[in-house]
Amino acid sequence: MMLPKLLSDSHARVMRDLRVSLTDRCNFRCLYCLPETEEAANFYRTKFDPVRNPNPEKLKLPEWKPRSEMLSFEEIERLVRLFVELGIEKVRLTGGEPLLRQGIEMLIARLAVIPGLQDLAMTTNGFHFVKKGRALKEAGLRRISFSMDSLGQANFKRMTGRDGLNEVLAGIALAKTLGLAPVKVNAVVIRGINDHEIERLAEFARSEHLSFRFIEFMPLDSSRAWLKEMVVPGKEILERLQTRFTLKPIASANPSETARRWAFEDGRGEIGIIAPVSEPFCGHCNRLRLTADGKIRTCLFSLHEHDLKSLLRSGASNEQLTESVRAIVWHKEASHRIGKSDFVQPARTMSCIGG
Ligand code: 5AD
Ligand code: SF4
Repeated sequence: MMLPKLLSDSHARVMRDLRVSLTDRCNFRCLYCLPETEEAANFYRTKFDPVRNPNPEKLKLPEWKPRSEMLSFEEIERLVRLFVELGIEKVRLTGGEPLLRQGIEMLIARLAVIPGLQDLAMTTNGFHFVKKGRALKEAGLRRISFSMDSLGQANFKRMTGRDGLNEVLAGIALAKTLGLAPVKVNAVVIRGINDHEIERLAEFARSEHLSFRFIEFMPLDSSRAWLKEMVVPGKEILERLQTRFTLKPIASANPSETARRWAFEDGRGEIGIIAPVSEPFCGHCNRLRLTADGKIRTCLFSLHEHDLKSLLRSGASNEQLTESVRAIVWHKEASHRIGKSDFVQPARTMSCIGG
């Protein structure tokens, strides 16, 4: 068998993980991503720095791209096949909210049969999962991550701008029944908003046998109102959980994993802490991102995107696309610059980039 020519960068990292955003639209308005509500405005206005965060005008949503700009399922499949030939093993479908993309199960069916693709996952806010879950599983989806930042109805609404906790809980329950194991749930922790729920969320992970991830708030919000004071450092989250639970570290075979993980004493469920702000893990990053409009981003915090869609639509051959991707990946950033004096927040928010 011929060994694949791998996608490596100038820092000796080999790419294995591709995140594909299917749409930049979303039915939620999370505080940390697309803040829009009056409550979000009040939070950002009054918390920590009323001088830097004075006005709700900042809460302007990005403009959605017209549909013609989005990659079609055929185009996505062609690119994913090329990436898999170049050593990508895992694909995660994201958004915006990927379940807003019509016929998504047809895309999953196309991707699931690509030889060499070992893992096909999705990150969703979960609101539409009850309607679509079975079709997704039958199409070949292997794993799913939900976003759920709060277990209180009112606080959930404050965090996401929508009254959707019951739908998400029902989605999580369905994913377990469908055997999309281990079902992952992510919570972004923001000081003064949901940090009082950390223990309660961990208890939920244990009782429901979930793999629960606490994520530090990163400067990727459309309001550009992020302040480091809003971040609850991973270390603090861990210390709080250790006060309440006996946790055993889980050794990982994969150095590129973003979460440091712990098991509960009774072996039910696990928690992970993702601390990109206080403990960056860029040195082992093996991820690439493809936006819904066909741009490659080599880092969540890239200031420059690479237009693969134009190349694709101009009739480029597979060889030309491959060479272009190789050249792009070679220049992947060594690390993000959060906390450094030269940090610049990227123009696009998480809703366009995909988590
Ligand atoms: N900081 C950290 N995580 C974020 N996400 C979205 N925006 C941010 C942010 N500013 C997470 C969501 C979701 C995933 C796609 O990314 O919680 O789980
Ligand atoms: Fe939507 Fe996800 Fe952004 Fe929330 S974090 S607004 S669910 S894209």
